[in-house]
Formats: sequence, structure tokens, C-alpha cells
Amino acid sequence: MKIDFKRIALSVSVVFVFISANAQMKQADIDKKVEALLRQMTLEEKVGQMTQIALDVICKGNDRYSSFTPLTLDAAEMKKAFGDYHVGSVLNTAGNRALTTAKWYELISEIQKTSSKQNVHKVPVIYGVDEVHGATYTAGATMFPQQIAQAAARNPLLVEKAAAITAYETRAGNIPWTFGPVLDLGMDPRFSRMWETFGEDPYITSTLGVAMVNGLEGKDANVGNPEKIATSLKHFLAYHTTVSGKDRTPSYISEDALREYHLPAFKAAIDAGAHTIMVNSGIINGVPVHASYPILTKLLKEELGFKGLVVTDWADIENLYRRDRIAANDKEAVMLAINAGIDMSMVPYKYEVFCDNLIQLVKEGKVKQERIDDAVRRILKVKYALNLFDKPNTNPKDYPKFGSKEFEKVSYDMAAEAITLLKNEGNILPLKKNIKVLVTGPNANSMRTLNGAWTYSWQGDAADEYTANYNTILEAVQNEIGKANVTYVPGVSYKAGGHYFEELADKMDEAIAAAKNSDVIILCLGENSYVEKPGDLNDLYLSDLQTELAKKLAGTGKPVVLVLNEGRPRLISRFEQDMKGIVQAYLPGNFGGNALADVLFGDVNPSGKLPYTYPRFPNATISYIHKPSEEQKKAEGAYNYEADYNPQYLFGEGLSYTTFVYSNLTIDKKQLKKRENLNVSVTVTNTGKRTGKEVVHLFTSDLYASSVTPDVKRLRRFEKIELAPGESKTVSFELNPADLSYTGRDGKTILEAGDFEVMVEKLKDTFTLIE
Ligand code: BGC
Repeated sequence: MKIDFKRIALSVSVVFVFISANAQMKQADIDKKVEALLRQMTLEEKVGQMTQIALDVICKGNDRYSSFTPLTLDAAEMKKAFGDYHVGSVLNTAGNRALTTAKWYELISEIQKTSSKQNVHKVPVIYGVDEVHGATYTAGATMFPQQIAQAAARNPLLVEKAAAITAYETRAGNIPWTFGPVLDLGMDPRFSRMWETFGEDPYITSTLGVAMVNGLEGKDANVGNPEKIATSLKHFLAYHTTVSGKDRTPSYISEDALREYHLPAFKAAIDAGAHTIMVNSGIINGVPVHASYPILTKLLKEELGFKGLVVTDWADIENLYRRDRIAANDKEAVMLAINAGIDMSMVPYKYEVFCDNLIQLVKEGKVKQERIDDAVRRILKVKYALNLFDKPNTNPKDYPKFGSKEFEKVSYDMAAEAITLLKNEGNILPLKKNIKVLVTGPNANSMRTLNGAWTYSWQGDAADEYTANYNTILEAVQNEIGKANVTYVPGVSYKAGGHYFEELADKMDEAIAAAKNSDVIILCLGENSYVEKPGDLNDLYLSDLQTELAKKLAGTGKPVVLVLNEGRPRLISRFEQDMKGIVQAYLPGNFGGNALADVLFGDVNPSGKLPYTYPRFPNATISYIHKPSEEQKKAEGAYNYEADYNPQYLFGEGLSYTTFVYSNLTIDKKQLKKRENLNVSVTVTNTGKRTGKEVVHLFTSDLYASSVTPDVKRLRRFEKIELAPGESKTVSFELNPADLSYTGRDGKTILEAGDFEVMVEKLKDTFTLIE
């Protein structure tokens, strides 16, 4: 049969035009309804829509900040919030614990019912939760590897699948809105939230950010679909660039850096249809971002054309007065933030202060009525898009696949593709299954450390209460080779009840003694879970006790395989040379233990690649994106050995149990005109004995640039492929002018004639860009 491709293409485009015409009609219909509603609403009702409170505020408890268990809604508090103050949004769990889907359904439908009774216009509440690696606060939900691990897997399709499952399971708990994905760049290994990011590269962050938005909102961004939820891209903009490396401290950043590195992922995700955005809680060039008209209105709303709703981060309006002192009182803080472009305040506790002040400010003419209307218009549009007016609730009974094996498999696959083999001296890995191992270290037997924070509770400290059905590393290793072949001694433990970073020696001598009777030591080191301010860190080296344990174990002469289970790359240079094998597990989630054991014992061939640069020393933490002066080479006359660029592991590193050889790097033009695209191809061959997956990274370098010193190199494309032994594949990439341009000092994009390099693995070629 002859296939008529032209006809197929035509009918596909007809369908596409039909869908987009349909979407436009739907939007026009929503716009009409929103305008009609706006005309009927009082100022007080509008301000209520701009107000978001924490669930604890309306639950029974001794105060607003915590709740009694089991959770019960407080009728008087609800009447005040939804009746007197017309509050339009609620967030978070209460009592800092995960709830079942049934409990979520009960709570949120009660909230919708009560608020609807109180609200003349029947405007539904929009409920939001941080569903950052699965439905965070829902017991039994599928927890995925955290974003940093998802980036190591370099598999956009898996990211999209995981996000689609997250949306489904979130709706199963009657929640329509998540505060994610995180599109901040994880460029600073000191920062307590690095693991929430897709790592240090803007291109990876853009690609995976879009994949995540597509999974959460749907490719058509139709969040009215009851299996989809609205996203909130966060934290706009350049949240992790602090000078101190600590959370919510000042950043100083140039216009070109802001646009060149931090903006692209947000822009791409906005273009993909993301409905809401959350603001950076920090301070850029002296100005808290929540008070920045240039960032929130000029850049985000006007230049990027963002039509969705802008929500603050936690308490960040009062922070303008109480923390950052850029306002002299709470009222001035409200004025600054709303005039800067904030649409909704995550108050989240003292909402009366926010509402009363904002109403007053409008009456005094200090905040214009049009600004309020603009904010409420954006909020109502999202509520309509989510179909909350017609269907305010989604019922767990309609989500039979919640927590299913099918979903768990995706989480396992992601972990298996993320785990990154960093060192394999003498091919110590994969381990044989007929050996005796010692499993040791503070991360060996903990579901909390496998998951990290935002897991059943904010800091992840409740994880072990909800995870009896999943395997720690120890349990997974026992399943792999039989309990009789595994000895477990912690050696070092995280102190129960202490600050997360407090550790104690826990049978260290016993661990050393047990090592002598084992063939191999699996040493599980890293970090306990943490996030935000509680995760601020003074010393990037891995703790003294863990270092001591590693050195003593290596001293036994038995081979040590180091498993890293950490949210940021803690320095291991004091003992790295003594380790035979090193595997980075990141925060791989509930199935990370199984995936890791499968990697260690060879059931899975590792294919993860570092999404960041692993530093060797505390004064050398620059990312792979850096300037030529940061890469002085000894051979080129650097002043001393410490002026060079010599991280522990490079961005993109990651070994396999097979070997890949790259050949035939080809570019289709040696001279490229400014409007032309460049086609690049390379052949990869699996020269080993096992099937394996490989990530092909394509970098470019602009050799000279006139406005801003060029970066040494930049990732422009990547693709993950799978090759059987002996198999070759040719991978093709197409670069466009945007890939060759950069942002100048004035913030404008520049495409400049000159010489460029293209690099894939160790292969290089050059071309010239001409007018
Ligand atoms: C965090 C945000 C989060 C919000 C709501 C804040 O403290 O910075 O990332 O979305 O809390 O939980």
C-alpha cells in the first residue's frame, strides 16, 4: 500500500488547527466569564482572592502554626477566612505530615463546600502543595528521584512520564496545583536546595523543565483535564546565586548573567504554557525580588508576556519589612510587593494584616484598582482553566492507578538511569553475587536519606514512618545476594532528635572488625535530609566522622565501594583515592535502594551522568560554565598548581560497564551564514560486551566575543541512546543561530561573526560564522 504522507500531514495539520481554534474559543469563553465576575466583585472579595493561607490556619490547634492530630477543620476559623475575608487559596499540609488521599479529599471538599457557601459568587478555592518529586504529602503516592537525579538520567521522556504520574496522584488527593518544577540553576554546591534543581546547566534545565511542565499540565496545557494540574515555576529568578552560598541571602548578578543563564528555562516553560510562577525569596543587587518591578512586571509580565498568576514565596511580603527592611512597616511591604507585580500572597498566617492593609492601600490610591483587577483576573483565569468552578473536587475513587506497580516501575527506571558510576578501579564493579559484603555508613539503612526533603514532611524527617514497603540500600543488597552474605554495622549514624547534621560514631570499631571478614565493603555516605534554611552549611567537606570511617575501612585493605547518597556534592577529596569504586546515587527516591543494588551487582548497566561539577576543594567550586581565566593550565604557565581547573569529577561524567567509542564528528559547513543552521553528527559504537545507554553531549565554544568574555564551553544538545555490543549509531543534531549567540552587557542578544568550536566527547571541529 502506498502511504500518502502529504495527506496525512494535511489531516494532522487540520486536526492541529482545529485543536488550537478550540483552545482559543475556550480561552475567549473564560475571558468573558472572568470579566463578568470581576464587574460584580467588591474590593474586599478581590483582595481575598489574592490571599493564600496555610492549612494549619483553619485546622483545630492551639495556635495558627500547628494543628491537633487527627486533623479537623475549625468551623469558626473557616468562617472568618472564607466568609469575612473571602480567602481564595490554601496551601500545604497541616501538622507537617502526609495524609491519605481519602483524608485530602475529605479536607479539601469540605473547604470547597464551606467557602462556596460563604462566597456569593461561588468562586472555588485553589489548593496548592509542593509536589516536587511525586505527591509529596500523600501517603502511598509514588515518590520519584529528586530533580537532581532526574537530570542525571538525562531522559526527558521519563521526566515527562514521572510528572504525568505526579499530576494524576496529586489530583487523586483532590489537589489541582503544585509549586514546581524548580527551574533554578544548581550552580552552587554549597546551596541547601541544589538537589531540587536539574543541575548547573541552563539547556538541561530548559529541556527537562519543559518535559516536566508537559507531564504535569499536559502538552496542550489543558489543566481542565482532571488528570492534570497547574504548575508554578520557581523561584523566579536566579534564586541560587547568593554570595554566601546560604539560603535567602543577597545575590549580586549582572544583567547579562541573569538573562544568559537563569532566564532561558523560565522562558521555555512559560512558552510551554505554565499557568503560574513563584518568586525568588532572595535579594538581587540589593533589592528583594518580591519588591522588584523591573523583574516581576517589566521582565516577566511585559517582556516574556507571562499571562498567568504570580505567587509569592512563603511570607515574603512581610519579609520585605520584617527581614529585608526595605519597607518601614507591613503596609508599605504590601504596597511594594503588589505594585511590583505580585498577584497572590502566600501570606500564609496573618492574613488579616495583608488583606486589611491592601484594602486600605487601594482606598488611599497607593495601589491602583487596575493592579488589583489585573491580579484577580490572572487568578480567576487559572481557576477557570482548572475547571474548578464546574468541578471543584476530584475524587480518589476515580484514580485507580494511584500508587500502582505500573507507576512504581517508572520511579525505579528513573533511579536506575540516574545512578552515576564515577570510579571503577580494576573493574571492581559490578560485584559478583556469591560474595560476602559489609554494608555500612549512616545512609545504609534509611529511607529518609534516599528520598531527601519534601517527602511526607517538609524536611523529609518523617519518611521512615511511611516507607515500610520500600527497601533501604541495606535491604535491597540483602534481597540481591541473601541476608546470610550481608553484615550490617552503621559505623556512623545521624543523631536521632539532633540537628540533621549531627552525627555520632556508631560501632565504628565493630564496622572495621566486620570489614576484615568481608570480601567487599559497601560504604554508604552522604547527608541526612534537609531543605531551605535548615540545610545551610558551613563546611562542604563530608563530615569528619564519615571521613574517618572511610579511611579506617580503606585501611583494612578490603576493597571499598563508596555509595554517595547526598543532595549536593560534599567533598570527598580527603579519601577518594582510597576508594575502589564510587557510585553517586543522589536522592533516588523510594526505589533507589533497589536500583542501586541492581547497579552494584550488575543487573543494571549504569548510564547516569553528573548534572553538576563535583568539586575537589572548597575554594574551587565553579561550574563547568566558566570563563577562560578560571581554567589556567600548568603547561601554559599558570602561577601555581592551584590556579588550574581540576574538579573531582567533571560535569557530564559517568561510566558504564561497557565502553563507547566516538568517531566521525561531522559538521555540514565550515562557513556558516548568520541565518543558517548547522548540522552536526557523530557516530558512537559500543565496543564492550554489554548493552548500555550513553548520553551524547554536544558542546560549543565561541572563541572570541566582543561584549562579554565568552564561556569556555556550553552544552547545546544531548541525547541518550542505547547500543548493543558492537552496535554503532550516528546521532545528528541541528544547531540554530540562537545556540551561537550570547547576551551582551546591555542584556541584548548578540550573534557575532567569528570562529567557533564544536565538541562531542574528545572530538572537535571548528567553523566560522560569517555575515
Ligand atoms: C519554599 C518554596 C515552597 C513554599 C511552599 C517555601 O518556603 O521556598 O519552594 O514552594 O515554601 O511550601
